[in-house]
Amino acid sequence: MANNLKSPGENASGAPVDVVIMAAGKGTRMKSRLPKVLHRLAGRALVRHVIHTAAGLNARRVVLITGHGASEIEANLQDLTGANGRFDLEFVRQEPQLGTGHAVQQAAPVLADDGIVVVLSGDVPLTQADTLRALIAQCAGEYLALLTIDFADPTGYGRIVRQGSDGHGSVTAIVEQKDATPEQRQIHEAYSGIMAVPARRLKGWLARLDNHNAQGEYYLTDIVKFAVADGVPVRAHRIDDALQVAGINSPVQLAELERAHQLRGARAFMEQGVRLADPARFDVRGTLECAPDVEIDVNCVFEGCVTLGEGVRIGANCVIANASIAAGAVIHPFTHIDGEKLGVRVGEGALIGPFARLRPGADLGPEVHIGNFVEVKNSTLAKGAKANHLAYLGDATVGERVNYGAGSITANYDGANKHRTVIEADVHIGSNSVLVAPLTIGAGGTVGASSTVTKSTPPGALTVSRGRQASIANWPRPVKKKG
Ligand code: UD1
Ligand code: CA
Repeated sequence: MANNLKSPGENASGAPVDVVIMAAGKGTRMKSRLPKVLHRLAGRALVRHVIHTAAGLNARRVVLITGHGASEIEANLQDLTGANGRFDLEFVRQEPQLGTGHAVQQAAPVLADDGIVVVLSGDVPLTQADTLRALIAQCAGEYLALLTIDFADPTGYGRIVRQGSDGHGSVTAIVEQKDATPEQRQIHEAYSGIMAVPARRLKGWLARLDNHNAQGEYYLTDIVKFAVADGVPVRAHRIDDALQVAGINSPVQLAELERAHQLRGARAFMEQGVRLADPARFDVRGTLECAPDVEIDVNCVFEGCVTLGEGVRIGANCVIANASIAAGAVIHPFTHIDGEKLGVRVGEGALIGPFARLRPGADLGPEVHIGNFVEVKNSTLAKGAKANHLAYLGDATVGERVNYGAGSITANYDGANKHRTVIEADVHIGSNSVLVAPLTIGAGGTVGASSTVTKSTPPGALTVSRGRQASIANWPRPVKKKG
């Protein structure tokens, strides 16, 4: 995230940084109604990854160029605009889309002359801010800096043409695949699509672009020629981490980049001491924080903001979102926890699942036990309370050591309003009971199995509300009539 100690856009060269993100292209190969840059990687829209990186650069302004699906993309990003944003996010439309140079031309009017412009693509989600800082340092407020990478197979990419033939001479041009000579196609060094360039110079070069090339497009990459002609050094910042420049064009590429990204994340967790049963079957779609000695079995998915305390164990096939799980808690397999906005809290040493469901506002104290097929929503359970089988607790306040019987439910909803159920300490609720809220079950009380309780009960009392058991002796069972 943005470093608050610096003023917006500041960097080593002193010039403010403005980021331009190109996202007007159609994304035909996604074969989707959803605009390409709104497809998700690690649970977050591709373009949000790029905006997040821009924020990490402490950008002064971020200009997003949209075309195909423009209104949908802009609507999706509303939360980042205006007073909500940590930087100034501007949308610029490019209609029609006449190439990357034409795209950046649309942004030129909203770019101040004193800045360094960093050009990114909305479909290249995993570039790291550190890499861009190094690129900005190469630009130094003066030069044209290109992010480049050597690919074994650079097909489709613009090639970096250098003086001489040893691959280390100064850069003289970028030649697009379709315009390249057979010799140029042998070049392995490719342009990543990312550059840093002084705004004042960029504007001059953009004005000189034409579309006299194989694709009839205005190529942003042609500015390299102009820089060379103007005697402005072109510097290449060559990296070897392909993930950082990988673009998404198809569902296959999206899935491959997701896997590679998750594997990288998994390795980082393991290096920090987290024990993952299988790093290939582990997904974080948000932020996960782990204390020492956390163990996570296969096929777990973490979404939103999740924290796991020391020694927490997560069984196989759990989905956990927006929750904090305290030290020593064990989440057994197939448990679904989703705190959404209210969050879920699981106390120290609690045992949850298998097959449990914790919904928003479930706040479980230490050593609480929630067993199979138990659903808890917007309820507080104090230390040592147990609901071990097939039960529902909604809008309930449950005291210490309460035992909540199998099959029991709080009837918290009267069809119009929700009401609270209070179960005081040391209460035992018999199996298959219905507690019709609002009511309070007094401390130490017992509710007989299968009772429907509609009124509060006094402390220490046994409450039974069901038909009395009766037996009719020697009762003849009906028999089938003949004929
Ligand atoms: C571009 C580069 C190429 C580089 C490659 C890296 C040019 C001419 N070529 O090629 O050198 O190796 O990226 O991936 O720049 N876009 C618009 N408006 C347009 C056209 C494109 O906003 O009119 C956006 C796209 O949505 C995309 C980005 O610009 O986000 C790049 O466009 P794309 O068509 O993928 O560029 P390439 O042809 O791959
Ligand atoms: Ca293209």
